[in-house]
Amino acid sequence: MKKIVLFGSNGQVGWELQRSLPLLGDFAACDRSKVDLADFDAVSAYLRQERPDIIVNAAAYNAVELAETYEQDAERINFLLVKVLAEYAAENNAWLVHYSTDYVFNGASDIPYDETDLPDPLNAYGRSKALGEVAVAASGCNHLLLRTSWIYSSRGRNFAKTILNLAATKTEFSVVSDQTGAPTCASFIADTTVLCLYRILNSADTQSLSGTYHLVSSGYASWYEYASYLVTEALSLGIPLNCTEKDIRPVSGSEYPTKAVRPISSRLNNSKIQNAFNIIIPDWKTYIKRTLSDIARQG
Ligand SMILES: NC(=O)c1ccc[n+]([C@@H]2O[C@H](COP(=O)([O-])OP(=O)(O)OC[C@H]3O[C@@H](n4cnc5c(N)ncnc54)[C@H](OP(=O)(O)O)[C@@H]3O)[C@@H](O)[C@H]2O)c1
Repeated sequence: MKKIVLFGSNGQVGWELQRSLPLLGDFAACDRSKVDLADFDAVSAYLRQERPDIIVNAAAYNAVELAETYEQDAERINFLLVKVLAEYAAENNAWLVHYSTDYVFNGASDIPYDETDLPDPLNAYGRSKALGEVAVAASGCNHLLLRTSWIYSSRGRNFAKTILNLAATKTEFSVVSDQTGAPTCASFIADTTVLCLYRILNSADTQSLSGTYHLVSSGYASWYEYASYLVTEALSLGIPLNCTEKDIRPVSGSEYPTKAVRPISSRLNNSKIQNAFNIIIPDWKTYIKRTLSDIARQG
């Protein structure tokens, strides 16, 4: 039986992974209360104790604005920790599943980025995640490096929950309309990760599946289109709001200056993972209804 260790089990994706990773073997979830991932001696000791065949790293330093000021903190988790995990995996013939981001790209492309496009991050968070990607490749370990984008879930902090909160408390508000990407549900990311691992564990040629993949919903939207859809669907589910989509004003990103520069296009081409694992990835709207129902139930 395979031993699977999950880091970051309290995060949006990590929480969802806890539901389905146990299907694959002997499972251990690790959150901050067990190991501070900034303490690499503690991480190495935990790995030696658990001896995983599969490491799933859903932990990250995700504070995009703070990373501009505390880039070394972001690098410690998004780069140096990943190096420790990848080198352990390489030395112990384990698989590493690691998540990266659309923010490794500069967002200037007119067409969706595919896995052969070269990273060129615009901000400190993106730079730290790009370094993590390099560390995984350099270690030579078997890996699934899954780039994703615009994650939401009924847990944690995310754009979808912010919009619902604004729509419940304001009579109008503005949302950026000139940045596009694919809103992607944490439970979809978790379920697809487990499906890919299942295929790998049952494949005659596992190593050919090792690599980088874009794991995002199909289709694209601007933040404004995404917010409008959320509000419309929430109202149709009976979630009480103060606004309709007509009360949302589209604005340019330049009207919202932030420390961290954001890519204009976060569009990632997800064909490679669909073809390699023989799966069909639904449109970004598909999972939103379910998440809204969860949020409605939580009140
Ligand atoms: N969120 C997005 O929109 C987005 C977009 C593209 C890619 N990604 C990538 O997708 C992956 C999953 O993202 P997510 O949104 O699920 O992340 P998340 O909700 O921010 O969760 C990250 C987890 O990492 C844990 N963590 C961070 N530093 C730690 C430390 N020193 N010790 C122990 N645990 C630590 C956090 O623990 P605590 O809960 O204790 O703080 C948290 O549970 C990440 O690799 C992220 O970079 C995210």
